[in-house]
Amino acid sequence: MVSQLRVYVPEHPLVKHWLAIARDENTPTVLFKTAMTELGRWLTYEAARHWLPTLDTTVKTPLAECPATLVDPRVPIAIVPILRAGLALLDGAQTLLPLSSIYHLGLARNEETLEASCYLNKLPESFAPETRVLILEPMLATGGSILSALGEITARGADPSLIRVISIVAAPPALQKLSEKYPALNIYTAIIDEGLNSKGYIVPGLGDAGDRAFGT
Ligand code: URA
Repeated sequence: MVSQLRVYVPEHPLVKHWLAIARDENTPTVLFKTAMTELGRWLTYEAARHWLPTLDTTVKTPLAECPATLVDPRVPIAIVPILRAGLALLDGAQTLLPLSSIYHLGLARNEETLEASCYLNKLPESFAPETRVLILEPMLATGGSILSALGEITARGADPSLIRVISIVAAPPALQKLSEKYPALNIYTAIIDEGLNSKGYIVPGLGDAGDRAFGT
């Protein structure tokens, strides 16, 4: 079977609500950060469906024994926030996946060439087989940062079909490159926008996600 990039845009009122708050240019930093946390939470909730490995077991209630399903603690879960902006999604993702390991990846975009360069890499030497990897990258614009991140992550043994990308706004140029290079990937985003301006910003987008989340 030939795999094809899957891009999920959950039809959920809370996702739409927090996206509207994040997009609004009048939203102050503290509320923008709340919006990112909430979007990180709801998109991670959607991504966890059919992705988190479970374990069938039984539990004893005060009245009787019954079948039960747990998240399988033997399978590692890795969260990779792409600095800076990806950090804004971390609180929401981490509350749902409290046993995950966090591996920071710092990628800076050269504003002239739009190429990404790595200034911090806390990835492990290799990922154990079956590791679930959740990448947090709010803006999928040109695709430069996410492709660099995926290169580093898959070079360490992660299986693209077990990787989920959480983004807030995705644009066609990034999605096109991802579908060519990583067809087995699954992306969860609040919206797909029209395209990019001449500076590589998503339009209408929400501006610079890192600047808006940290106010600097
Ligand atoms: N990075 C951002 O923060 N915003 C964009 O629109 C594109 C890349």
